[in-house]
Amino acid sequence: MKTIAFFNNKGGVGKTSLVYHLAWMYADRGLRTLAVDLDPQANLSAMFLDEERLAGLWEDNGQATVYESRLPLMNRTGDIAPPHVEQVAERLGLVCGNLALSRFEDLLSENWPKCLDGQEAAFRVITAFHRIIEQAARAFRRSRAN
Ligand SMILES: Nc1ncnc2c1ncn2[C@@H]1O[C@H](COP(=O)(O)OP(=O)(O)O)[C@@H](O)[C@H]1O
Ligand SMILES: [Mg+2]
Repeated sequence: MKTIAFFNNKGGVGKTSLVYHLAWMYADRGLRTLAVDLDPQANLSAMFLDEERLAGLWEDNGQATVYESRLPLMNRTGDIAPPHVEQVAERLGLVCGNLALSRFEDLLSENWPKCLDGQEAAFRVITAFHRIIEQAARAFRRSRAN
């Protein structure tokens, strides 16, 4: 799997639009594509899904979005939980974002210097998004067989 990250501290520079169109382009060209919305604004999820479905995923008390996947880490009750992969089109999946993701920002900035101190638990927090993406990709690959 190839992973492409789009990030920029500045808002309004076209990140979300670019990811949305590239994801559709890759899928149209025959690549199995998984879009992962890690922005607390969750605009990408709102572009892929209609309001009703988005509201349904946000109300879900299970593991519907990337926020719920991180909750055990946030609450210090365990590691990440497998995220739900929403099937958008035949070769296109989405790990839905969540406005509540902004609650993790403090945890991330708190743990970054602890990684530099070599604290193993901090690496678990800092690598959580990467590991969520890997889990989701594995599940998405498996779903092809069904
Ligand atoms: N290539 C482009 N040319 C012109 N307008 C664009 C382009 N890409 C995005 N936009 C517009 O710019 C605004 C911000 O884009 P968006 O993708 O939401 O940025 P970001 O995710 O970086 O905040 C939106 O109104 C979008 O329609
Ligand atoms: Mg955006």
